[in-house]
Amino acid sequence: MAVLPDNETMHRLLSAARGARDQAYAPYSHFAVGAALLDAQGRIHAGCNVENAAYPLGMCAEAAALAHLVLAGGQRIMAAVVVGEAPQPVTPCGGCRQKLREFAADDCPVWSANGQAFTARFTLGELLPASFGPDHLKA
Ligand code: THU
Repeated sequence: MAVLPDNETMHRLLSAARGARDQAYAPYSHFAVGAALLDAQGRIHAGCNVENAAYPLGMCAEAAALAHLVLAGGQRIMAAVVVGEAPQPVTPCGGCRQKLREFAADDCPVWSANGQAFTARFTLGELLPASFGPDHLKA
């Protein structure tokens, strides 16, 4: 079991995810999302959704944040925060759960928030139970 990030770190992630959400390019859905990921070095990598006129090519905020983490040399995700405005907590879509899983353990916190506060606190294992991952490909 990994050491879980403290409250202050989760709030730093929240702030980064909110800042990223402000940059979202979502002219089609008008649903802006921001995400922030904590790497094993304590660095934060943020991303926003980037939609496209060819709708299926749009990118989720989590995927954008993940690309930043990998580009910076990050290899593990220790925590994630996703920010969006909806009646229910905004959690990563199914595809993004799998993308996060590539770099995160089952106990990795994946918290949802809106402009006011955290709205839900999950672990990746709760969002993607019995998942398929890199270990399955090791002989
Ligand atoms: N979206 C994200 O960026 N992350 C999520 O966790 C849920 C959905 C984006 C995709 C699309 O640009 C918009 O939100 C509406 O689905």
